[in-house]
Amino acid sequence: MHFLVTGANRGLGLEFTKQLLEAGHQVIATSRNPSEASDLRALESASLRLMALDISKPESVDAFAKALNDEAIDVLINNAGHYSRVSVGFDHLNFDGVLHDFAVNGIGTLRVTQALLPNLRRGNAKKIANISSKMGSITDNTSGGSYAYRMSKAAVNMATRSLANDLRSEGFTVLTFHPGWVQTDMGGPNALIEPPESIAGMLKVVDNAGLEQSGRFWDYRGQELPW
Ligand SMILES: NC(=O)c1ccc[n+]([C@@H]2O[C@H](COP(=O)([O-])OP(=O)(O)OC[C@H]3O[C@@H](n4cnc5c(N)ncnc54)[C@H](OP(=O)(O)O)[C@@H]3O)[C@@H](O)[C@H]2O)c1
Repeated sequence: MHFLVTGANRGLGLEFTKQLLEAGHQVIATSRNPSEASDLRALESASLRLMALDISKPESVDAFAKALNDEAIDVLINNAGHYSRVSVGFDHLNFDGVLHDFAVNGIGTLRVTQALLPNLRRGNAKKIANISSKMGSITDNTSGGSYAYRMSKAAVNMATRSLANDLRSEGFTVLTFHPGWVQTDMGGPNALIEPPESIAGMLKVVDNAGLEQSGRFWDYRGQELPW
């Protein structure tokens, strides 16, 4: 199958790319600066294509979609994300940080999905996996803070639900994920699991998911999460 992974130069995106290549899939892996993505370049094979994409920049998304032309994509993994640590406490809320997380996580994810919809419609699997976070769950928020990240991931979750409804009649499965607390630059060294476990789990859920699972919030073990 043909997969597209955003934010593939490090962290979870890099591990998605590794495991998909190992499983024999074709992967388009995007990053903001492919020439500097040394870990990703080290995976280079005939099944891997590196392309430039900044999901927060409309002109980058447009150029990317144009470069893909009418190529079919089976599964879009909207992995790229940002956590603005400057906006952790309400007293010190930095609205530039709030806007930045929205531009990347909320609007960027939606813009990429819209731009690639013609390609996804040409694919057979018709699946979209949005990598969100439990921090975007309203029910799970018992500790407050992290306004920028929490609000932007709640937006991803709402977009997932609307997309699932809007694209259901065309046979699309649209999922939103909490990948676990994972040891990456974002998750930090104290996180509970390592990327291979998170990614293997999420790929299994994506693989097994159909319309019944669409529009719902999953963790990497396939457990459903509350909104
Ligand atoms: N790690 C965790 O514990 C955890 C928990 C819950 C959810 N998540 C979610 O999982 C996803 C992957 O996280 P991670 O842990 O791998 O984070 P990470 O190590 O910080 O990597 C983030 C990736 O997103 C890319 N990115 C950031 N802004 C971008 C933009 N404007 N356009 C394109 N790419 C952009 C980064 O590219 P650059 O290198 O160019 O910055 C990088 O490739 C994110 O959506 C994150 O919110 C992670």
